[in-house]
Amino acid sequence: MVYRTPIIAGNWKMNNTAREGVALVNALKPLVADAKCEVVVCVPAIDIPAVAEAIAGSNIKLGAQNVHYAPKGAYTGEISASMLLEYGVEYVIIGHSERRQYFGETDETVNKRTIAALRAGLKPIVCVGETLEEREAGKTEEVLSRQVREGLAGIEDLTNIVIAYEPVWAIGTGRTASCEQANSTIRFIRRTCAGIFGKDQANALRIQYGGSMNADNYRLLMSMPDIDGGLIGGASLKAADFATIVKYDKGGMGGMKLRKELL
Ligand code: PGA
Repeated sequence: MVYRTPIIAGNWKMNNTAREGVALVNALKPLVADAKCEVVVCVPAIDIPAVAEAIAGSNIKLGAQNVHYAPKGAYTGEISASMLLEYGVEYVIIGHSERRQYFGETDETVNKRTIAALRAGLKPIVCVGETLEEREAGKTEEVLSRQVREGLAGIEDLTNIVIAYEPVWAIGTGRTASCEQANSTIRFIRRTCAGIFGKDQANALRIQYGGSMNADNYRLLMSMPDIDGGLIGGASLKAADFATIVKYDKGGMGGMKLRKELL
């Protein structure tokens, strides 16, 4: 039997100073205290110490938005896994489309960062997704298959990995994938992983949807069988909206774990 715990992660991007971030998590803590899913906030690097202190003892987990693949050295502006671990960071977003688009991130650097994060004991949230141009050219599956194969090359164990499927055309645009579209694309990603890692690992892998998920549209998306959570940008900046999404009790199980065998 395979179980997957839903995971809702906020991606604050380059929003919230440390002080604003602390105010946000302080507002969030009581609202999500009885969450049935894993709750993560992926905050700007400089907010990490203050937010770590503010969430201590709560059920909110800490995530970063990037990590370098080298353990240390001459990489001006970068942050290592051990720097994150010292503050109790558990998750790290890798290969977000904004990093691919604006900062030269490639499937190869995504792969290097993912391997380094796993080795250090961080849990990577590996982002994949097609652009509008790629979708319209009928290349969605080709692109996703490549991003999964190359991004996860050399990895054998998916236990600590989460994949976030984020169609680039849906990020910050208010344009969400339909729940059927998101589910079938996520199912394709799961099948691709089954081909590489085997059915058991693919069934146990948590795959989030991301891209304009908000307090109005989360319910339909989250109710889909292959969607195990969300990577939430804009809506994670408002405590009430983020809490609304977090409180969704997937499957109405009233428990942390949801039985799943999809493939
Ligand atoms: P959005 O961002 O929810 O603001 O579309 C999602 C993301 O980029 O992770």
